[in-house]
Amino acid sequence: MNLSEAKLELKQLLSRVSPPELPKLLHWIRNSDELDDLQLDNRTVMLQSIADDLRARLPLDAMLASETAAHHKMQQCTRPTVHVDSFLYDDEQVDALCEEGTMSRTYCLSCGSSRTAPLDFISHSFSVSELQFLFHNVLPDLSGRMLVDVGSRLGAVLYGGYVYSSASQLIGVELSEEFVQLQNDVLLRFRLNDRVQVLHADICTQDVLLQNADVLIMNNVFEFFMEPSEQLRAWRFIMQNFRKRGALLVTVPSLQESLNALQQEALQPGWVEELPVDYDVYLGRDTDTDSLRQIHLYRVI
Ligand SMILES: C[S@@+](CC[C@H](N)C(=O)[O-])C[C@H]1O[C@@H](n2cnc3c(N)ncnc32)[C@H](O)[C@@H]1O
Repeated sequence: MNLSEAKLELKQLLSRVSPPELPKLLHWIRNSDELDDLQLDNRTVMLQSIADDLRARLPLDAMLASETAAHHKMQQCTRPTVHVDSFLYDDEQVDALCEEGTMSRTYCLSCGSSRTAPLDFISHSFSVSELQFLFHNVLPDLSGRMLVDVGSRLGAVLYGGYVYSSASQLIGVELSEEFVQLQNDVLLRFRLNDRVQVLHADICTQDVLLQNADVLIMNNVFEFFMEPSEQLRAWRFIMQNFRKRGALLVTVPSLQESLNALQQEALQPGWVEELPVDYDVYLGRDTDTDSLRQIHLYRVI
């Protein structure tokens, strides 16, 4: 049954419900977890198993001691900011950790008092619902195409691409050797290496890979991990080499925002055009719609 058929059938069903019961039924549709559970298929369960496995091997903040630049940048944020990896922890898990006192959503304004303010949370990975949105609603059918994730970190995009897309090759490029090792362990354990591969490299050494890529994913890759001058060098390298006509680029945040932050607005024109994305999609009650709106799609022209 397609969407318009389903809508018609639902309207017909609602028209048969007795009027006093109708508001209760609509309330149940809007608020019950039972319908969200229908969206949980085997592919999502597999991603959750990978996340369970990774959670057990990483500290609570899922950051490495060696990520000194990222730790330093987080300390420089104007408001107190903590890293909570969205691939590893969904809202329910964060709530549970806050209840048991392992994690906090707030910080104390004057020590010992109950005056608190909300902490800013950032994530260095896509969440499972963002991955679902990316592969089902943002990107087209990827059969026969090669996708490259710049800065693959825990590998969330690669695992998401494996279960939610038909991409023939999913290649992660990651600077941190420890994260490359971790991703390779997951690929072996969950038998994903028939389509997924991870390279331990700086993207700025991967000209041939960029020239052959059909889809390039850049989820907040550089901001927390490189100085502005290095970020600029990396953007230039990508623009020079990712040039296959019609190839797709996904960025978070938008290209304009990333380049404005580097005062390089002039760098972008003529390389890619932005494509529309329909953000009006229901992926469960806890989905952060603001974070979906940060996902932008471009086509190389
Ligand atoms: C925000 S994470 C992206 C995570 C992942 N792509 C996702 O969406 O779930 C950025 C990652 O990029 C890596 N990175 C930063 N600069 C890089 C570079 N020049 N080459 C390769 N990896 C880089 C960092 O080590 C970090 O793990």
